[in-house]
Amino acid sequence: MSNYHIKHLEEYYQVYRKSVRNPEGFWEEIAEEHFLWRKKWDNVLSWDFKKPEVKWFEGAQLNITENCIDRHLATRGDKTAILFEPNDPKEGSEHITYKQLHHRVNKFANVLKEQGVKKGDRVCIYVPMIPELAISLLACARIGAIHSVVFAGFSSKALATRINDSDCKMVITSDGSYRGSKTIDLKGIVDEALESCEGVEKVLVAKRINSDINMKEGRDLWLQPLLDAASDQCKAEVMNAEDPLFILYTSGSTGKPKGMVHTTGGYMVYTAYTFKNAFQYRENDVYWCTADIGWITGHSYIVYGPLANGATTVLFEGVPSYPDFGRFWDIVDKHKVNQFYTAPTAIRALAKQGVEIVEKYDLSSLKVLGSVGEPINEEAWHWYNDNIGKNNSPLIDSWWQTETGGIMITPIPYVTPTKPTYATLPFIGVQPCLMDENGKELKGNQVDGRLCIKFPWPSIARTIWGDHQRYKDTYFSTYENMYFTGDGALRDEVGYYRITGRVDDVIIVSGHNLGTAPIEDAINEHPAIAESAIVGFPHEVKGSALYGYITLKDAGESRKHDNLRKEINQLISDRIGPISKLEKIQFTNGLPKTRSGKIMRRILRKIAEKDTSNLGDTSTLLNPECVQEIIDNAL
Ligand code: WTA
Repeated sequence: MSNYHIKHLEEYYQVYRKSVRNPEGFWEEIAEEHFLWRKKWDNVLSWDFKKPEVKWFEGAQLNITENCIDRHLATRGDKTAILFEPNDPKEGSEHITYKQLHHRVNKFANVLKEQGVKKGDRVCIYVPMIPELAISLLACARIGAIHSVVFAGFSSKALATRINDSDCKMVITSDGSYRGSKTIDLKGIVDEALESCEGVEKVLVAKRINSDINMKEGRDLWLQPLLDAASDQCKAEVMNAEDPLFILYTSGSTGKPKGMVHTTGGYMVYTAYTFKNAFQYRENDVYWCTADIGWITGHSYIVYGPLANGATTVLFEGVPSYPDFGRFWDIVDKHKVNQFYTAPTAIRALAKQGVEIVEKYDLSSLKVLGSVGEPINEEAWHWYNDNIGKNNSPLIDSWWQTETGGIMITPIPYVTPTKPTYATLPFIGVQPCLMDENGKELKGNQVDGRLCIKFPWPSIARTIWGDHQRYKDTYFSTYENMYFTGDGALRDEVGYYRITGRVDDVIIVSGHNLGTAPIEDAINEHPAIAESAIVGFPHEVKGSALYGYITLKDAGESRKHDNLRKEINQLISDRIGPISKLEKIQFTNGLPKTRSGKIMRRILRKIAEKDTSNLGDTSTLLNPECVQEIIDNAL
C-alpha cells in the first residue's frame, strides 16, 4: 500500500491515524519516496509553538524547481505542463511542455542573475495571468531568490507598501493586462508605486498588450530581448529545506498586510501530497484552478503542487464573464478538464445566469469539483454539485489559509462522503481542535468553537516577514501551544467540520452565539436573493443585533421590500430560530468585496454601527463604488 495516494475511506482513517501517531515517521516516508533531495535531512521536525518556531527536514538540501521540472524531463518531457488559455478565446491556447518549461525557466533565471539578483534577494512579481507569471516564480526559485507576488489588480499604493515591506530590489511586470473587454495599464501602476520605493533597482517588463509605455532609462528593461540572449542552461541553486521560498501578503484584521513567509522543503512536500490526494489527480488528467497566482491558492495549486506531480495545469488569463458567462464551461469542454477548482463567489455569480448557458457545453470530462476561499452556502453548493458536477463529480469544500500553505480540511473525492457546506475531515497529518472562549478544548462531537491546530504540518508559514512578534501575537498567543486560525467551526455528530466564518464575525445576540454563515445560507435560499452579508450592531436590550445587507437578483423588485423583509425573517426563523432574525434589512446593489472576492464585513459593520468616519482604505476593493451607495441608504 502506498501512503501517497489514498483510495478509500478505510485507508484514509488508517493513514490518518499513522500520520498523527508518528508524524515524523509519516512525513519522512513521504518525503523520501516522492521527491528529489540533494542531501537528506538530519532531523525531520523540531518545533515549539511558544517561540514559535517550526522546522521540517532540517539540514536537507534541494531545489524545488528540480522537483517541479527537471525530474519529469525523462518521463514527461513532451507532456503539457502549463496549458495557457488567454483572455480572448480567438487568440488560441498555448501548450507548454515540461521540456519547454525547463528551457524558459532556465533562460529567465539567467536573466535574473545577469540583472544582479542573488540568492536570498526579494523579487516582487506584479504580472497578469500569463505564462511569464508562473515562469517568473520558478525562475526565482531556481536561483534561490525569494519571490513576493502581488496580485496584479492591487493599486499602486498597495503595491508600494508590499515592495517596501520586504525590500524588493527588482519588480517583474508587464506593459499591461487584459481583463475581459478592458485593458489595464500595469506598467503605469508600477511607475507610480516606484515613486515611493527606493530599493528597486531594476524593472523587467514582459510585453502583453503592445501598449506604448514609458521605460525609465537604466531601470526598466524589456524582458524578451534579454530572454532571447540568455542561455537555456541554469544550474539550480542548492537550497536548505528551511530557506525561504516566498513571501505572500495577506490582510490582517488590523494594520498593514502580513508578509507570510513559506520555506522550501516542507511547503513542497505538503502541497504536492495534498494536490495528489485532494484532487485525486491521475497521470494525463487536465487540472484547472481558476484562482490567480497572486493568491496562495494559485501558488500552491496552480504552480507548485501540480508541477511537483508532473501534472497538466491550466492557466487562465481571463474572467468568467468574457466573452460571455459560458467561458468557464467552454474551457472545461475545450480542454476536457478533469479537476476544476474555484471559489463560491464565482459559483454564485454563474448560478445567477441560469443553467441554460451551462447546458450548451459538454462537462462530462469533470471528475472532481473544488471550492475554496470562503464558506460555500448551501444553495451554491447544490447548484455547483447538481448542474456542474451532475451529481457525479464529488465536490470538495477545502478549507485552508495563506498561512497554512496547503489544504487542511477537505473531503478526499471518491473517498470521503461529502455533505453540503461541510469541509468534512482533516487532511492527513492535520490535527484540528475546537476551543471555547476560555481556552478549554471542546472534546467530542456536536460542538461549536474556535478552530485551532495542535501540531505542526510541513507547510505552516514560519513567520511574518520582518515581524516575528506579530506572528506570535496573531497566531500563537490566543491559545497556549496551538496555532489559532481565526475561524470558527463546528463538528457534527460524525466528526465532520463545518467552517462557520471568521470568529470576528461571530455575533452574540441576547447571549446567543450566532455564526453569520448559516443565517446567510437561510437568506440565500430565498429565490429573489442573490447574496447577503450579516453583521452585528450595538443594541440596547440584546447587546448586539443583526443587520443584513442584501442584494436582489432583480433590483427592480424594490416595491416589494417590506414583504421581502417579512419573508426573509420567516425563512431565518424556520431554518435557525427566531433569535437569528434580522433587526434591520438594507437592500443594496452590491456588497463591498476584496479583490479575491471576499465580502469586506469590516466596512459593513462600521456602516451598521453608524461609524463611517474611518472606513480605512477602500481603494483596493473590487467594487469601491458600492460603499457610498450603502452609506447613503443605511438604516
Ligand atoms: C476562509 C485561501 C470556509 C477562512 C486558501 C480562512 C474558508 C480564510 C474556506 C483564508 C472554506 C478559506 N470554507 N471558509 N472552504 N477556505 N476560507 O488566506 O475564513 O485567502 O481563514 O486563503 O478564508 O483565506 P486565504
